[in-house]
Amino acid sequence: MSETASISINGKSHELPVITGSENEQAIDISKLRDVSGAITLDPGFKNTGATKSAITFLDGEQGVLRYRGYPIEQLAEKSTFLEVAYLLIYGDLPTTETLSDFRNKISRHTLIHEDMKKFFDGFPSKSHPMGQLSCLVGALSAFYPESLDPNPSEEDENLTIMKLLAKMPTIVSWIYKKSLGHPVIYPRNNLNYVHNFMNMTFGQITEDIDIDKSVVSAMHKLLILHADHEQNCSTSTVRIVGSSNANLYASISAGISALWGPLHGGANQAVIEMLENIKNDGGDSAKWLAKAKNKNDPFRLMGFGHRVYKNFDPRAKIIKKACDDVLDKLGIDDPVLEIAKELEAAALKDQYFVDRKLYPNVDFYSGIIYRALGFPTDMFTVLFALGRLPGWIAQWKEMKANKEPIGRPRQVYTGDTKRDYVPLDQR
Ligand code: SDX
Repeated sequence: MSETASISINGKSHELPVITGSENEQAIDISKLRDVSGAITLDPGFKNTGATKSAITFLDGEQGVLRYRGYPIEQLAEKSTFLEVAYLLIYGDLPTTETLSDFRNKISRHTLIHEDMKKFFDGFPSKSHPMGQLSCLVGALSAFYPESLDPNPSEEDENLTIMKLLAKMPTIVSWIYKKSLGHPVIYPRNNLNYVHNFMNMTFGQITEDIDIDKSVVSAMHKLLILHADHEQNCSTSTVRIVGSSNANLYASISAGISALWGPLHGGANQAVIEMLENIKNDGGDSAKWLAKAKNKNDPFRLMGFGHRVYKNFDPRAKIIKKACDDVLDKLGIDDPVLEIAKELEAAALKDQYFVDRKLYPNVDFYSGIIYRALGFPTDMFTVLFALGRLPGWIAQWKEMKANKEPIGRPRQVYTGDTKRDYVPLDQR
C-alpha cells in the first residue's frame, strides 16, 4: 500500500500520493490538487516545493552531504578531473578510458569559435561586466549553429550541440578576459587537456610560451569540479524552465548565466572578496561587520554565508578552505583577506544569531581567495563559477528533455483589484 497524505479544505478531505526518492526523501504529489480541491499551494522561493524528480545530484543540507550521480564530492574533488566529472554528470556514469578519450577528442575538435564572433567582443565597452558578455555570447552561439534550434534533435545532434558548448565555453571565457586587458587572444591548443588549455588561453601570451604551474591547473580542476552541479538551485531551475519551452540549449544556458550573476547566488564569490577588501580597508574589525550583518536595519549581509539548503557546513566550502591554504602556501602568497575570512568564520560560528539560523560558510566564501591567488580579477570570479556549473546545467537540461517534462508555468494567488469598469479620461 503506497503512502498517502491527507489534506482537508472547505470541509472535504483529499488523499494525495506520497513519493519516496532513492535517499528516502518524501514528497507529496500535488499534481492533481487543484483538480480535486480547487486550491493551489503557495510557497514563495519554492523553499518547500520540489519542481522535478532528478537522478543527477543528491545533497543533504542537514548532514552537509553532496554527491554527483552517487559519488561523494570529496572523492571526485580529490581523484577526478573536471572533464571526467562533466561526462559523469551528463551521461550518468564514470567514463572508461576509451569513452573518456573519445569525449576529450570530440571536444577538442570544437574549441574554436566562429571568427565573426570577435565582432561581439569588440562591441562591448572594455569595462563591461564579464557575466553580461558571457550570457550574450553563449546565447549568440545559436546564430552560428542553427541546427541547435531543433526542439526534437536526434541523440547524435543533441550530443553534438552539447560538445560544442562544452568545447567553446573555455575559449569564450578566456577571450572575455583577454579583451578586458586589451591583449590579443590566445587560440585553443588541442594537445592540452581541457583545464590546462583554458589556463593557457587565459594567462598565455602570443609573444612567448608560458608554463602553467601544475598545482595551479590542479587547483582549477578541483574548483571547477566543486561547482559542477548543485541540484535545483536558482540558475539550474532557470535553465530547466527556459528549456521546458523548447528553447534551444544555448538560450537556456544563457538564461542560467544571467540567474547565476546575482550576488545572492553565484555573484556572491565576487561580493565576498569586495566585502573582505572593505573590511580590511576599514581596519579589519570583523566584530563590527558581524554586528552589521545581524542588524535588521542594516542592509549588509555576510556574503558567502548562509544557504537555502545547507543548514550545516557546505562540504564544498570545507574543501575550498583547505585548498586555499595549500595553493597560497604553494605559490608563496600571503593574502591578508584570508585571515579576515577565517576570523569572520570563527566568530560567526560562535555567534548565537548565526547559530540559531544555521548560517555556515558556503561555496562562495573562500573560492574568490583562490581565484585571486591564481591570477584572476574579481569580476571574472562568477564567470569561473559558470564555467564550472556548465556540465551540471547541461545534464539537468538534458534530463528535463529526456523526461519530456511539461512547460514550466506556476500558478498564483491574485490579490489585486476585483472587477471594475473603465472610467473615461475626462471623468477621472
Ligand atoms: C550559492 O541554492 C544553491 O545551491 C546555490 C549554490 C549553488 O551551488 O548553486 O550553493 C550557490 O548561491 C550559494 C549562496 C551564495 N549567496 C550568498 O552567500 C549571499 C549571502 N547569503 C544569503 O543572502 C542567504 O543566506 C541565501 C540567499 C544564500 C539564502 O537565503 P534564504 O534561504 O532565502 O534565507 P533567508 O534570506 O530567509 O535567511 C534566513 C535568516 C534571515 O534572518 P531572519 O529574517 O530569520 O531574522 O538568516 C538571515 C536572514 O536575514 N541570513 C543572513 C545571511 N543569510 C541569511 N544574515 C546575515 N548574513 C547572511 N549571509
